[in-house]
Amino acid sequence: MSAELTALKTVARRFPLAVGGVAVLVTASVVFAFIAPELSLACLAVLAGGSLVGLLLVVERTRRLPAASRPATARPLPPETLPVVTTDRDAATRFATASEAGDTEDRAVWTRDEVFGERFCERSLDEFCLPSEPVAWDDTNPYLGRPTDELRAEAMSQVRWRYHHGLPELRETEGFYSAYSTRVDAMLDMIDRALVIAGVTAPSDRSFVDIGAAEGYVTNWLLDRGVSDVDAIELNISNISRMWLIRALKNQKGGRIGRVDLEKADWARSLGRRYDVTLALGVIYHMENPLLFARNLFELTDQVALVESDTPVFPDNVHFRGWGNIYLHRDQVTLEPGNIRYLTEMRPDRQALAELLLAAGFREVHAVVPPTEGTRSAYFDNGEKSLLVALR
Ligand SMILES: C[S@@+](CC[C@H](N)C(=O)[O-])C[C@H]1O[C@@H](n2cnc3c(N)ncnc32)[C@H](O)[C@@H]1O
Repeated sequence: MSAELTALKTVARRFPLAVGGVAVLVTASVVFAFIAPELSLACLAVLAGGSLVGLLLVVERTRRLPAASRPATARPLPPETLPVVTTDRDAATRFATASEAGDTEDRAVWTRDEVFGERFCERSLDEFCLPSEPVAWDDTNPYLGRPTDELRAEAMSQVRWRYHHGLPELRETEGFYSAYSTRVDAMLDMIDRALVIAGVTAPSDRSFVDIGAAEGYVTNWLLDRGVSDVDAIELNISNISRMWLIRALKNQKGGRIGRVDLEKADWARSLGRRYDVTLALGVIYHMENPLLFARNLFELTDQVALVESDTPVFPDNVHFRGWGNIYLHRDQVTLEPGNIRYLTEMRPDRQALAELLLAAGFREVHAVVPPTEGTRSAYFDNGEKSLLVALR
């Protein structure tokens, strides 16, 4: 009965006019009973007819309500009507025995050897989770005091420079990566505008850290602009050495360099301080845990993080594709000559990158528009690379 009452209440809420009509007819039939009994009978007849139609409607509606919204009046089924759980082992394992063991025709198989081969790197959980040691900062240039000619000869003997560092002859070296160098020039222009967006109008008064600083073109560019509180962190020993070499060649003073592995869960804590501006340029897409990287970045940042990354452009989000895409990339990072770490990177596209930064705590993220004059890089122009400004 309570089920019917509940259904009637539902109908009353949904059909207030019908309920009002019933109230009017009942009142009228009572009043007319004293002054015009035939009218009272007519009212009762309309009421009876209406009630019958209403009842039929209620029954039909209740029947059509989805199971979950029906009042929970169901009683447990008697045991004999419960579905039988088979104890027949053959039937229970039928799907698993559809083909012979070793017959791979009926399924897709990935093996570590076929997918990664020699490029599989076994890494223990400790490598990621053991607390990081404090960074051993270096502020003394090992090339200090060496004659310029010797330094220049050293630089010219090296291969695969990624940037010219304002030294035109480096472009002539073997394997000079000119597309990368163009991207760095376009990026420096964008960093200038990113700093304005972030309200950093006098960079020389602020502290900076360049994360994954490579050959040090951004740190050195900051030193050229009078920034004195600037740290650089890198994993690759050869890159650290190049940073010092270029600084010596350009007679640049100031700045510390430390060796840090950004795959460590708590790497930001090992730096022992925070910075007004953190630079994560071309580095988050090298991480296998980009959101954890973003959390470290947030912890390290006092004011703004500039995050540059590969951000391939995918079609607009559609059903089930969610907000932004993370795609896998097989890559490698050099730790020192002959010591290469192969890894599977989780690369966020632009939307996903912005959301990761917000999820890590940044309150606002802006994408910097690429330059329309001066040095332009096709990657920034077509959106395959982005520079984001993440405000704390
Ligand atoms: C694509 S380069 C970008 C360099 C530079 N920031 C730029 O924007 O051109 C990535 C740099 O990150 C460094 N790197 C990659 N994985 C790292 C890690 N786990 N820890 C520290 N540095 C890392 C590499 O050695 C390399 O110098």
